[in-house]
Amino acid sequence: MAITTAIFDAYGTLFDVSAAARAAAGEPGSGALRDHWQGLASDWRMKQLQYTWLRAVTGDHCDFWQVTEDALDWALEAAKIDDPALRERLLALYWELESFPEVAPMLGDLKAAGLTTAILSNGSPDMLAGAVRSADIGALLDDVLSVESVGVFKPDSRVYDLVGQRFGCARDEVLFVSSNGWDVAAAAAYGFRTVWVNRAGDPVDRLPATPHHVLGDLTGIAGVL
Ligand code: LAC
Repeated sequence: MAITTAIFDAYGTLFDVSAAARAAAGEPGSGALRDHWQGLASDWRMKQLQYTWLRAVTGDHCDFWQVTEDALDWALEAAKIDDPALRERLLALYWELESFPEVAPMLGDLKAAGLTTAILSNGSPDMLAGAVRSADIGALLDDVLSVESVGVFKPDSRVYDLVGQRFGCARDEVLFVSSNGWDVAAAAAYGFRTVWVNRAGDPVDRLPATPHHVLGDLTGIAGVL
């Protein structure tokens, strides 16, 4: 079936999750972060994702903001950084993450081609609203769907169900785009067409389903369609 609906993961796909640590490292008083921001950003993200998976499996849901704070606390302790002001600054920056530069033109092209566009994310509605506002892409999206309406994180299939419930489209009319290999694998198994945005050149995840398309960034999305 022809693709009618393009659905995007948010963090890491549209919004640069390393941007908070990178920006804080460049500010006066950043201390140890200046030389270690990449490791901290990586630990922060990995723990954030691990906590979502574990909470989905055990049924201990909380919102993505709680997971984001908990993961940062783990990462700061691992880096031996005890700096409450820096912690607050990193969290504040997470509300206004930069989007990748190709995001707005890519969404504009999809809207011009008549596609429905939306975010489907673990993010809480208020976090996502902050990121969409700071990236100024709200007018290019038909909706922003958060897992909070089903109370479980990806890759639970109830999250992917939100797309059909909201837009009334069949699974094979959906192009699902994510930089997270595990998210793409789950979405492909669910029945969406998928694009893995593999900015880091990582190997394909060894999971039951594999991505239909692999791109280095978002500029090729219109070509996939
Ligand atoms: C999201 C995370 C998985 O936005 O990046 O859902």
